[in-house]
Amino acid sequence: MKGIILAGGLGTRFRPLSHTGPKQLVPIANKPVLYYVIEDLVEAGIKEIGIVVGYTEEKVNAIKDAVGDGSRWNCKVAYIQQDAPRGLAHAVGICRDFIGGEAFIVYLGDNILREGIVPYASEFYKSDADAYLLVAEVEEPNKYGIAVLSEAGELIDVEEKPQAPRSNLAIIGVYMFKPCIFEMIDLVQPSWRGELEITDAIRKLLRSGKYTVLARQITGWWDDTGTVEAVLNANNLILSDLKGESLGEIEEDVRIIGQVKIGEGTKILKGSVVKGPSIIGDNCLIGPDSYIGGYTSIGHNVTVKGGEIESSIIYNNVTIRYKGRIVDSIIGDYSEILNGQQNPKGE
Ligand code: G1P
Repeated sequence: MKGIILAGGLGTRFRPLSHTGPKQLVPIANKPVLYYVIEDLVEAGIKEIGIVVGYTEEKVNAIKDAVGDGSRWNCKVAYIQQDAPRGLAHAVGICRDFIGGEAFIVYLGDNILREGIVPYASEFYKSDADAYLLVAEVEEPNKYGIAVLSEAGELIDVEEKPQAPRSNLAIIGVYMFKPCIFEMIDLVQPSWRGELEITDAIRKLLRSGKYTVLARQITGWWDDTGTVEAVLNANNLILSDLKGESLGEIEEDVRIIGQVKIGEGTKILKGSVVKGPSIIGDNCLIGPDSYIGGYTSIGHNVTVKGGEIESSIIYNNVTIRYKGRIVDSIIGDYSEILNGQQNPKGE
């Protein structure tokens, strides 16, 4: 089987950070979301992956720089460019030549699944299903594509972002298809948001009566890292499984509590407290007298002098010399947060 990762899209719900970088490279526990996606596909036995990228040159280059030709994961990566955000069905449709006649898996480049996809991919592979969906219960089904299942667990219908959802099962961003999906994609008309929805193509498969579409409810957690809240949530979930280890230098009078991973060349200076689960990358300088609370990911080359940070994501090359408290925040590359800055006052 081949894999397709959809990494175009504008990331409008993740502005302003998505103005300067693709949301698929947001670091979750110091690893881009996209790497988790590639790892899941490779773990499911996929050796050839097509990444659909958008048209913003900087973002396309950032993805190409981060992933390269895939050799790091022992797989082959090709890039397929989408000329505008025309919807998931359009993005899959432009991969027709890349896929050829094989079954394939589509993985949205901002989705993250705790348990990976191995058991599902192997069930799909062994089955005679033409499409195979993964679903999960959500609180706001109107924000997703939803799946309606019979009591026996058979898929009856799917609908994209319904105003009156008939189920609380969201279709998550991993889809497995046989090439017959391309015929349905050709028939899809733009939705109210002006996009060709993959959900509509799946609906056509279902309604044709000729094809088998299976849906399986996942057991572990899932997150689509579209918003700041969802990114912080994914960071919390990944860090919950973190195993502590220190490759850095820890001065006396420093307290490390719980599972904390500290990278090479990093120094934790006296009077500091670091609470897990937290990760601190390479070549950072933390302290003196800094407090890093649980569920914090700090990237590489970051300085934190004094102050408190908790439940936040700090990208790379950031300087924080601020006596206050930073919580539930995402701080982008090369940011500086300094004492005495005139910050705008919120209403
Ligand atoms: C897309 C799909 C939707 C699916 C969701 C999963 O939504 O259209 O059916 O439930 O991904 O993340 P979007 O992120 O485009 O709003």
